[in-house]
Amino acid sequence: MEKEIYALLNQQINKEFQSAYIYLDFYNFFEEKSLDGFSKWYKDQANEEIGHAWRFITYLHDRDQPIKLTPIEHDSQNYSSVKEILDKGLEHEQYISNCIRAIYAQADATKDFETMNFLNYFLSEQIEEEVNARNLIAKYNFVGETGVLAMNGLLQNSKDHEG
Ligand SMILES: [Fe+2]
Ligand SMILES: [Fe+2]
Repeated sequence: MEKEIYALLNQQINKEFQSAYIYLDFYNFFEEKSLDGFSKWYKDQANEEIGHAWRFITYLHDRDQPIKLTPIEHDSQNYSSVKEILDKGLEHEQYISNCIRAIYAQADATKDFETMNFLNYFLSEQIEEEVNARNLIAKYNFVGETGVLAMNGLLQNSKDHEG
């Protein structure tokens, strides 16, 4: 495998675990406030991110590449509002979408067709992730900070989905 693609794919393992940490941090915020619909939602998101990490790990093994684990950068934050969390969630997913595009561009430039094919899943997945994040913001904009209980009720019924 070409060096730069390998480096990017290996880094993406860390970024997916970092995404899981960010969602875990969100989960803790809501769990502490007994907003169990939100906490369920972010627990599902965190687990989904670990699923994403596994996809990269498995792909690198399948391509006979070594896995190099690095520290996960994310400390617990003091979030001041639900809105801040929703905005940070969308911002992070947009960042991850750009990471996936950068790996895809490198795979394309070096004719790594297998990696392009592997990444197709993530191109679609990132659209879904951004849609989910934007939908939460749209709902929030409708109800405001005092309407989070109503949103919490909606999220209690959210479906589990695997990533
Ligand atoms: Fe992810
Ligand atoms: Fe994500």
